[in-house]
Amino acid sequence: MLSYRHSFHAGNHADVVKHIVQSLILDALKQKDKPFVYHDTHSGVGRYDLTHEWSEKTGEYKQGIAKIWQHSMPQELDSYLNAIQVLNQDNALRYYPGSPRVARAQLRKQDRMILTELHPSDYPLLQQEFHRDRQVSIYQEDGFARLKASLPPKERRGLVLIDPPYELAHEYRDVVRAIAQSYKRWATGIYAIWYPVVNRYDIDDMLEALKGLGINKILQIELGVSPDTNERGMTASGMIVINPPWKLESQMQAILPLLKQEIAPATGHFKVEWVVPE
Ligand SMILES: C[S@@+](CC[C@H](N)C(=O)[O-])C[C@H]1O[C@@H](n2cnc3c(N)ncnc32)[C@H](O)[C@@H]1O
Repeated sequence: MLSYRHSFHAGNHADVVKHIVQSLILDALKQKDKPFVYHDTHSGVGRYDLTHEWSEKTGEYKQGIAKIWQHSMPQELDSYLNAIQVLNQDNALRYYPGSPRVARAQLRKQDRMILTELHPSDYPLLQQEFHRDRQVSIYQEDGFARLKASLPPKERRGLVLIDPPYELAHEYRDVVRAIAQSYKRWATGIYAIWYPVVNRYDIDDMLEALKGLGINKILQIELGVSPDTNERGMTASGMIVINPPWKLESQMQAILPLLKQEIAPATGHFKVEWVVPE
């Protein structure tokens, strides 16, 4: 079943947190000249037109990127905001970069990216977005299967972004299994797992299962826009980062209060916590 379409959600508060964390990790990898790989298991289409009827229908980006993109923000957000700026030259917010476009804006000539997208409508759009780009490899395959086949990468440095739709209950377990397999093949890679808080117990279960893998250095970063509830809908989202760059914790400690202030001043909440410390 592939019913999830990211176009409805592009640029929402969850994308903002996800892509900020992603861009900070890539900034850290760029501190060294040695090449790195960016591997995106669930890529989407790479760029979203916010005037599309699906984006307009939900208007989610208005409560996300639209709240911050032209505000004065700390320098740490430069790479992320630059990825948006280059798609919107005339100062109007029309396009929002998906995770592959955010990453592509940060790649140097020695770096490469691997993208997987299974959806039969989204895959061709992703291919078109990176047409003839020799630094980008794109597969219409299961993201977890391609990850398993690609590790360890020849560069031995890099970031894996795992961003499934979580439409099916087993996807939480799939993530844990993928981490267990991947870590055996490549223990020094950086893994960033995006998660939505729809039912808090799904996240608690996933964190417990990750703790049980015996992996050190797992950091949880979360921004909520309203308190947890038993009603339907996403109230918060976050990233679970394995082997985070050393500055990520303090960077997000500084950035999250600003995001809360802009996006959900009255009901927002945030945390940066070690699930498993070093
Ligand atoms: C949350 S969206 C990705 C958004 C993207 N990472 C971003 O930040 O711009 C999840 C994507 O995963 C795709 N997908 C679902 N199951 C998949 C699978 N098994 N392998 C690869 N892609 C899958 C969906 O079609 C959807 O485009």
